[in-house]
Amino acid sequence: MLMRTQVGIVGGGPSGQLLARLLGLEGIDVVVLEKRTPGYLRARVRAGLLEQGTVDLLTDAGVGARLARERLIHEGVQLAFDGRRHRIDLKGLTGKAVTIYGQAEVQKDLMDAHAAAGTRVIYEAEDVSLHGLSNDKPCLRFHTGGEGQEIACDFIAGCDGFHGVSRQAIPQEVIRIYERVYPFGWLGVLSDTTPVNHELIYASSERGFALCTMRSMVRSRYYLQVSAEEDAADWPDERFWGELKRRIPPDAAAALLTGPSIEKSVAQLRSFVAEPMRYGRLFLAGDAAHIVPPTGAKGLNLAAADVRFLAEALIAYYKSGRTDLMDGYSARCLQRVWKAQRFSWWMTNLTHRFPEASPFERRAQAAELAYLVSSEAAQTTLAENYVGLPIM
Ligand code: FAD
Ligand code: PHB
Repeated sequence: MLMRTQVGIVGGGPSGQLLARLLGLEGIDVVVLEKRTPGYLRARVRAGLLEQGTVDLLTDAGVGARLARERLIHEGVQLAFDGRRHRIDLKGLTGKAVTIYGQAEVQKDLMDAHAAAGTRVIYEAEDVSLHGLSNDKPCLRFHTGGEGQEIACDFIAGCDGFHGVSRQAIPQEVIRIYERVYPFGWLGVLSDTTPVNHELIYASSERGFALCTMRSMVRSRYYLQVSAEEDAADWPDERFWGELKRRIPPDAAAALLTGPSIEKSVAQLRSFVAEPMRYGRLFLAGDAAHIVPPTGAKGLNLAAADVRFLAEALIAYYKSGRTDLMDGYSARCLQRVWKAQRFSWWMTNLTHRFPEASPFERRAQAAELAYLVSSEAAQTTLAENYVGLPIM
């Protein structure tokens, strides 16, 4: 069957669904193709920390009501090493706070809004492929229920994450890849327990990094740095809790409430940028174009900024025929992307145990942590990056 739309969106994660929402509100026709089921997307645990710019954008998109009711606002964050915790006063240093609200909740809010608005979101779309990107006739082909389909589009938004097909559809000679793969991953556990602390704890220890975060005051999320090849199945709950207690300061370990895990998974850490983020009538947004290690909590926030810029560019085109924002899209996103890349890479280097680090590098890392907690200027720089820039 042949369909037509103005903007074909590949991927129904947070980037794709938020873009669909911003365009839909302006009367621009979209179709979203997502390969997974709604149930899978609603249960996918990932990010937890939203910058104020992301909260504002979700609110503008009409999906801010539950977020406003249920979010936790954090005005500080803790850095732990050598058995002690040090609070970084985000609010005092920058005037800003951050929001804790799970990505799964953002995803559900977006999906519910689309269901209510009647947006065409096609789940379980198989074998999605992109065509006609370099001429003026882009189209998407895919299968649903064993049947071949085609959608003619004015533009295509590649919002299909790091492993998606959109970036792969760009000829290799026009795309530059910058990448660093870290020799470790994060093992994450979700559990219905009271969080160990009311603010996040980023803990650097001889045994590796650990992060204590949360989804609510009754649901905790903890992460452990593990080797890149680690299998979550080798980490029964008792082993996880035991290791976490060894990596966080003794007072936190003593306060830690443990319980059965309700989700457990390993994510590889990677820094990655594909430039430019546009090829002809294809625009990449979110993880399809860039990945940051989660240490800086920037991935979803960068995705939201891309989506705002892309929505502005497409709306300017449809409302007034302007093409300048589309032409400037990639450069505008990449400026922000590289700031977040630098910060995420720096936070990862500061807090993780690198297996290949020399004794000199380990001492320099310890000295950097000590300097940070002794210097208000250094803490201000960290806090400014952590709370994020306004999206403009
Ligand atoms: P994705 O979420 O990857 O969505 C892409 C979608 O495209 C998926 O639904 C996928 O099923 C679909 N898709 C893929 N291929 C195809 C195809 N061929 N056809 C159709 N559909 C396809 N970020 C933060 O900002 N703060 C945090 O605190 C944070 N913590 C994190 C913790 C962990 C452990 C991890 C792994 C990530 C974290 N992130 C964080 C990053 C954040 O989760 C991602 O940046 C975010 O999911 C990006 O959204 P996206 O929509 O661009 O990509
Ligand atoms: C999370 O809550 O999952 C989270 C928070 C902060 C990070 C990474 C992940 O830096």
